[in-house]
Amino acid sequence: MNKKIDEIKNRAEGEIKNCADLKSLEDIKIKYLGRKGELNQILRSLGDLSLEEKKVIGPKAQSLRNELDVLIENKKNEFLSKKSRNSLDVTRPGKKIKIGHLHPLTIIENEIIDIFRSMSFSIIDGGPEVETEYYNFDALNIPKNHPAREMHDTFWLQDNQKQLTHDTKQLTESQRSKVKGQKLLLRTHTSPMQIRYMETHKPPFQIVVPGRVFRYEATDASHEINFNQIECLMVGKDVNLTNFKYIIQEFFTRLFKKKLEVRLRPSYFPFVEPGLEIDIQCVKCGGKGCNICKESGWLEIMGAGMVHPNVLKAGGYDPREYQGFAFGLGCERVAMLKYNIPDIRMFYSGDLKFINQF
Ligand code: DAH
Repeated sequence: MNKKIDEIKNRAEGEIKNCADLKSLEDIKIKYLGRKGELNQILRSLGDLSLEEKKVIGPKAQSLRNELDVLIENKKNEFLSKKSRNSLDVTRPGKKIKIGHLHPLTIIENEIIDIFRSMSFSIIDGGPEVETEYYNFDALNIPKNHPAREMHDTFWLQDNQKQLTHDTKQLTESQRSKVKGQKLLLRTHTSPMQIRYMETHKPPFQIVVPGRVFRYEATDASHEINFNQIECLMVGKDVNLTNFKYIIQEFFTRLFKKKLEVRLRPSYFPFVEPGLEIDIQCVKCGGKGCNICKESGWLEIMGAGMVHPNVLKAGGYDPREYQGFAFGLGCERVAMLKYNIPDIRMFYSGDLKFINQF
């Protein structure tokens, strides 16, 4: 019996080693380790042996069983890994790796800027988000106690003096005298940059200024406490409303990639005269009337006008010599129209289901 086990061991090891595929490995397993396999037959016949023999043969047969089990398992893994290596097709296109992408507002801002740059406007970096009462209101022809201040619900800052001493270090002497003792606020629009730019540049020029602005308001589907504007200002000796209308018509046509009519309606903003509300033909229905334009065929898109003489004066220009136009465009409003976004709060929600669509 002892010899028989040795013989089985040699034979089985050889067969496993030389075995060619998974199927014959399975046969070998059945032949030696199966219920009716050779080793089980030996173990089953232990009862016929003497006690002495049992003590030797039993453990020996059992340990051979374990050994063959391991050998078969290893051989099997060898076959499997070879198989997966053979099935690797290096000519197949690779898996697409997910990389980051721009936020919809950044995409829109870049597009707007690109269009204006192609029309020879200079792109001016935003200016301070913490602004003085002077630049945000007074210099823009919105004096204290003027009812127009109510159009801008304002975040006022408390610790004024400390921030002012920090801020004034970068200012020229004449600017410093204007902001001395000023109350500070989070700018409610990008229009203060009109003054800051005029103070330090000579006309003629045409600029656009993207920037973040803040309003102390209740939020809803079309109001946020912080949003983004693009301010535009063009000043020269004979800049007029015809120039303005041509430029914005061209701009909106390029932005929405279809010919869009523009409509100018009289409106009021203290820093322009005349003040205008600008409508574009509905980007969805093209003017026929739909749910987006509330059946009117037109969409209100931005405020604009000819720069008020008082504003030119505050910028250091003679209003009898220079004139210009200005407008303020809301980036969120444009993005909502272009991408059909129903709620302004989605931009800052951090909701990946929303963000990943861009
Ligand atoms: N600053 C205005 C606002 O935020 C928008 C605006 C209106 C800007 C008319 C302009 C303008 O430059 O001419 O409500």
